[in-house]
Amino acid sequence: MQIIHTISEIRRLVAAYKQEGKTIGFVPTMGNLHQGHLELVKMALSKSDIVICSIFVNPLQFGEGEDFEQYPRTLDKDAQKLKLAGCHIVFAPAVDEMYPHSKGSGCDQSQIIIPDISDILEGAARPGHFTGVATVVAKLFNMVQPDKAVFGIKDYQQLQVIKCFVQDLCFPVEILSHSIVRESNGLAMSSRNAFLSAEQKQQAAAIYQALKHIESQIHKGIRDYAALQQQAEKQLNIQGFRTDYISIRDVDLNMPETESKKLVILAAVYLGNTRLIDNLQIST
Ligand code: PAJ
Repeated sequence: MQIIHTISEIRRLVAAYKQEGKTIGFVPTMGNLHQGHLELVKMALSKSDIVICSIFVNPLQFGEGEDFEQYPRTLDKDAQKLKLAGCHIVFAPAVDEMYPHSKGSGCDQSQIIIPDISDILEGAARPGHFTGVATVVAKLFNMVQPDKAVFGIKDYQQLQVIKCFVQDLCFPVEILSHSIVRESNGLAMSSRNAFLSAEQKQQAAAIYQALKHIESQIHKGIRDYAALQQQAEKQLNIQGFRTDYISIRDVDLNMPETESKKLVILAAVYLGNTRLIDNLQIST
């Protein structure tokens, strides 16, 4: 497995593989890898010849007062895990390489803005977040030129945002999605779980339970979405969480109709200072 830090080197390698007729699968991450990330790598391996995983903590997608500085940076450990998973190339550029304005080249002003969907739910809580995500993913796509890229449904809204700009701007990349990988107690795996104590990790299982409870209510035919959301929020708040939102949406993240057959329930809650997100797709 090779570890590459520069755009010129990743381009050279990818061009050589493409020359040989190999297909490129890509898994963008911010590192501090867990089993969820590694399942994405496995999926990419099953769908392409060469798999590249990027590790870049992207300053553009962190708002003021968010955890950019504290975000765990564990490149050596991550590289070991990726090697074991069968990944071929790790692309780990420095901030200067991705945003070279400070080095006197590039403008670092261009951004990919996807209106509406970027402004709701996670976007409402984190203004500018999805512009930062879309911009860095577009840059990474142009550097790596993958045939396929794998994203987790864990970040449901992020996946929708990426699908939007890839379609709107005709990026020649097939977007694949992977189901949410969970701990045995149901907690969705996340790099941010590293901020939780052992006790909080047990407590955090309540988020998935709340989503499952709403699902069971909907399956019973209860369609008062506002009431279902409020009950779940109240229940989580009693259990020591601070709920940002519990929201029942249609699959495109619009407000659902009473008769909508496919829904997604999204949650963002704080446990202590840690913001956790999860979601559950349901078909009725
Ligand atoms: P990061 O949070 O490191 O996540 C990288 C990828 O792993 C994303 O596609 C995310 O949805 C997926 N993922 C994380 N936890 C998962 C889980 N428990 N099950 C399944 N997939 C999971 O998302 C980002 O990084 C960044 O925003 C990025 C797209 C790399 C742009 O900077």
